[in-house]
Amino acid sequence: MTLSLNSRPNVQLYDLHPPLDDFYAAALAGLQATPKTMPPKFLYDQRGAELFDVICTLEEYYLTRTELLILRTYAPELATLMGDCALLEFGSGSSQKVQTLLDANPKLRTYVGLDISRHQLQKSCLDLASRYPQLEAIAICADYTQPLTLPDLPALRHRSKVGFFPGSSIGNLEPQEVVVFLRHTAMLVGPQGSLLIGVDLKKEPAILEAAYDDTQGVSAAFAFNLLTRINRELGADFQLDQFRYRASYNPIGRIEMDLVSLIDQVVHLGAHEIAFQQGEALRTENSYKYSVSDFQDLAAQAGFQPQQVWTDPDRLFSLHYLQGKS
Ligand code: AVJ
Repeated sequence: MTLSLNSRPNVQLYDLHPPLDDFYAAALAGLQATPKTMPPKFLYDQRGAELFDVICTLEEYYLTRTELLILRTYAPELATLMGDCALLEFGSGSSQKVQTLLDANPKLRTYVGLDISRHQLQKSCLDLASRYPQLEAIAICADYTQPLTLPDLPALRHRSKVGFFPGSSIGNLEPQEVVVFLRHTAMLVGPQGSLLIGVDLKKEPAILEAAYDDTQGVSAAFAFNLLTRINRELGADFQLDQFRYRASYNPIGRIEMDLVSLIDQVVHLGAHEIAFQQGEALRTENSYKYSVSDFQDLAAQAGFQPQQVWTDPDRLFSLHYLQGKS
């Protein structure tokens, strides 16, 4: 199905109807697992998305501004590599980042936004289409964590496809899941295609722990919002003041974000009783960090050939250009 959006001639929406999440089943399974855990995608209800936008502006959260700096610095080089490709963005919330690519590359006339959130997707594609009247913006509502086939559109024929996955969003996946995701992506962009992906680098734990537990408490509020959401949408009875937020670096290469129970307590979800011991954690997120060569190894396992990598002068963040191969 295709819809033109709001009389803007240069935007189209394709709805591939991603199946709705069963939040209750996922929450229950996570709370009954040992250790307790919750899929990070549920952090992003409306309030969660707003809080995450605030996180991205925090002094301690160096990721967003550093990736933008790398993109701005190397945009001319990226324009040469990408040419008149079709740019496929995974998740569509980062229009500032895409704009650095579009501004530096007038040949770039085809943008495909992939997002599971129809609302977010429409908003960002309409915004891009009105800022860039020469751009053909194609919004595809789909779950890009699952294998995916793009609609057969004239705008995508005879153009190399370049995936764009900024923000170190890949960091929420386990390394073996990263390989699976990259394999799907390699199939999607094809042997002539590429992937431009932002990956946070390993560094001093103190810098990482500050980035994930800021002094203003926004990171904590972001995690606590998950409990608020479970209470509101699923009728659970989490007492927020009986938990504390903790972000700690595990030297295997990830920041672990937990809500830690302050007491022995029982939480109800549906007819189920979930017992927490004092000090027991509910893992809300892992955020993996990679050295340049760690990540290139994963990319190679997935069938990509690492072609170029850029970092900032302080080596906080990396941007990889990976080439598909047949
Ligand atoms: C959206 C996964 C890239 O890991 O840096 C930030 C999520 N959580 N602060 C990250 C997050 C708390 C973020 N990613």
